[in-house]
Amino acid sequence: MSKMIGILTSGGDCPGLNAAIRGVGKALLGRYGMRVLGFRDGFRGMMENRTQVLDSQALSGILTLGGTILGTSRDKPWAMPVAGKQRDMTDVIVDNYRRNRLDALVCLGGGGTQKNAYHLMKQGLNVITLPKTIDNDVALTDVSFGFDTALGIATEAVDRLHSTAHSHHRILVLELMGNKAGWLALGAGIAGGADVILIPEIPYDVKKVASAILRRSHHGQGFSIVAVAEGAVSLQEAGKQALKSEGSKQKEDKQKEDKQKEDKPKEDKPKEAKPAKDRYALHQTGSSVQLAKQLEELTGLEARLTILGYLQRGGIPSAGDRLLATVLGTACADLIDKGEFGVMVAARGEVPLKDVVGKRKTVPLDHAWIESARSVHTCLGD
Ligand code: F6P
Repeated sequence: MSKMIGILTSGGDCPGLNAAIRGVGKALLGRYGMRVLGFRDGFRGMMENRTQVLDSQALSGILTLGGTILGTSRDKPWAMPVAGKQRDMTDVIVDNYRRNRLDALVCLGGGGTQKNAYHLMKQGLNVITLPKTIDNDVALTDVSFGFDTALGIATEAVDRLHSTAHSHHRILVLELMGNKAGWLALGAGIAGGADVILIPEIPYDVKKVASAILRRSHHGQGFSIVAVAEGAVSLQEAGKQALKSEGSKQKEDKQKEDKQKEDKPKEDKPKEAKPAKDRYALHQTGSSVQLAKQLEELTGLEARLTILGYLQRGGIPSAGDRLLATVLGTACADLIDKGEFGVMVAARGEVPLKDVVGKRKTVPLDHAWIESARSVHTCLGD
């Protein structure tokens, strides 16, 4: 009986997911004579055993298709919202792996998915992952698919804002995605020629940003483009966050201490499931709205804000993402054939999953992109 390989996409969707599914699937079917079973909507679909056979017909015509044909969710095996409660459904997922007689499970996702896959690997499942995210923040891989397409979309937005900023002598603030990493804003800011680039890795001083804009204005360039990552914070905000996390760490240590004193066994009562809106609210900090207002007050120039949002995750994958996703996909099939599991297929070859989880790849402060931005007189807010 030929081998059966499960596959799922999890976390935020991005262009290139279908190209990767096609790469994995076509190689497994065509080259290794294996069968492929898709799970719908990430780990939730694996918990509910909602499957889709991926035969050559299902894999045809999806190379240039955005999104994911399997659907996705951000649900975690050990904290799955079920009937309004957060429940650990790991055992059910492991049962469904066995029920479908899987020989391995391929997970396509970002940092959170790598962690979920590692959790299942520790339950004895043969797991292998591929790095996808527009944030490019998955550790131990030079690049994740989805990033190149988002970079192109964000750069085009910076390009387009130049003409209206110039016509109206305005400051145009463009908020870009990226979660807690600055790769997208930095890359698109440099490629689009933004005058100011603000990223989470460098907390910014709004006064320094304003004086850079005023300097431009005094040199006859009465407009400025500010590319700001959604996770960028001001120095003040960074200070508050540092205090807060210190405070919660102390509280946590105290609770741990009290717990040890009590020595009472942990009650694992299922917690209330967090309503999905909370997560969205997390991202809508409004900090870019505030930034635009502050810059207007500090410079006397009109400021306008554009939040590019989910346009960065939509549409046809770029040639670069199709190429990377296909190459990683077929490499994944080769590893499955060799029986190599517990790894992530990174851009420069497989890496142990245990070394990837719990890490976020942020922009190093001595990175060439940062140096290059400084060399072309881009203000980074510091
Ligand atoms: O990780 C991809 C990403 O688009 C981030 O850039 C963004 O912060 C987040 O997902 C948005 O999450 P959601 O899709 O749940 O709104």
